[in-house]
Amino acid sequence: MKKLLTFLLILIVTGSLAQRQATIYDEENVPEYQLPPLLKSQNGRNIKKVKQWEKIRRPELLRLFSQEVYGKIPGEIPAPEIIIHETNGSAFYGKAVRKQVELVFSMNDRELPVNILMYLPAATPKAPVFLGYNFLGNHSVADDPNIRLTESWVYDHPSLGIVHNQVTEQSRGVSAENWPIEMILDAGFGLVTVYYGDVDPDRDNFSDGIHPFHYKAGQEKPRPDEWGSMAAWAWGLSRVMDYLEADELVNAQEVILLGHSRLGKAALWAAASDPRFAMCISNNSGCMGAALSRRRFGETVAVVNSNFPHWFCGNFKKYSGYEDELPVDQHMLLALIAPRPLYVASATEDQWADPLGEFLSAKQASEVYQLFGVEGLTTDSFPAPDQPVFGRVSYHIRTGKHDITPFDWEQYLKFAQQQLEPE
Ligand code: GCU
Repeated sequence: MKKLLTFLLILIVTGSLAQRQATIYDEENVPEYQLPPLLKSQNGRNIKKVKQWEKIRRPELLRLFSQEVYGKIPGEIPAPEIIIHETNGSAFYGKAVRKQVELVFSMNDRELPVNILMYLPAATPKAPVFLGYNFLGNHSVADDPNIRLTESWVYDHPSLGIVHNQVTEQSRGVSAENWPIEMILDAGFGLVTVYYGDVDPDRDNFSDGIHPFHYKAGQEKPRPDEWGSMAAWAWGLSRVMDYLEADELVNAQEVILLGHSRLGKAALWAAASDPRFAMCISNNSGCMGAALSRRRFGETVAVVNSNFPHWFCGNFKKYSGYEDELPVDQHMLLALIAPRPLYVASATEDQWADPLGEFLSAKQASEVYQLFGVEGLTTDSFPAPDQPVFGRVSYHIRTGKHDITPFDWEQYLKFAQQQLEPE
């Protein structure tokens, strides 16, 4: 027994070493690769006009991402019941109006409540808003006793007061540093945020969240071409958008989608598939977000599939170790957002997310912006840390670790202001 345990331990240690050794953190080890062409359709047609992009290539790429990567949504879910919990709470010394709304989706005896928290600038009616998922519950974004606590499953963080996968009062405001709300308000924007686990708890368990709404009797998980969690989160963002379109306090034409890390991946897919989002900001989204998969730098398809098997659809598993077989790469995901403003951001100590791969992807996607007659990313060379490159497609690499910081937000506010200015 002891021998067997030792043997198993050695296997695990050497296995994880092999995985770590295999991680590419050096440009010299990036294999040669060829990106699938953005502006050539699958049957070889060159895409030279916006009309061809919109009629042929864009739908084709959306279909490929949906079938092979994120998974398709199996069907319609009836419009939710809307419960308004609060309409004009005063917050941030009267600078903000706080509004809290619950969307309750129901179908076949199932119910799913999704809670929206809004801080809208009191002085600016119908201001543009940033819409972003949060990681730990709405109450984590500000130390505000009026924010309703989520009852959804949350990753345990005992030191933050999150135990048995439930939040407690102690976790109020624990993510406030990532959400500089006063700065956002002062710049003339509102913030709309939702806990992503309301839509689908982030665990390898397809029995909760929105997925089971479409199950047939006896079904336990989505089919191989159907939605994983990433697509469920993107779906949730679109449902929040449906609500915002009907809210008279919000300018639904100016909703800027923002996401950090895994939520940056979800934001990109949401913006790619739903043209109602006016802009998109991907912060440190990395593998299957903004970064090119074929570079295999940092996190790879095989690693993301094995660590987070529920994020992407079943079909995507076949590309673990076979990036060159993918009919798409992530520059195509970014291009699906064109000609809308897009910001991609990396961090120097976040090599896992492949900063250069994120930059190159934004550069490649710019081809489609060009097709629309606008310049995408305005530089060919990778910028120095903390030197943002602003434009319709913007990019920066910030000094520091995987995170979303006030520095990042300062750039996003500036970018959004620039892009909203009439030309
Ligand atoms: C892990 C994962 C990344 C993801 C990140 C996050 O590091 O490998 O793909 O972006 O978690 O969401 O924090």
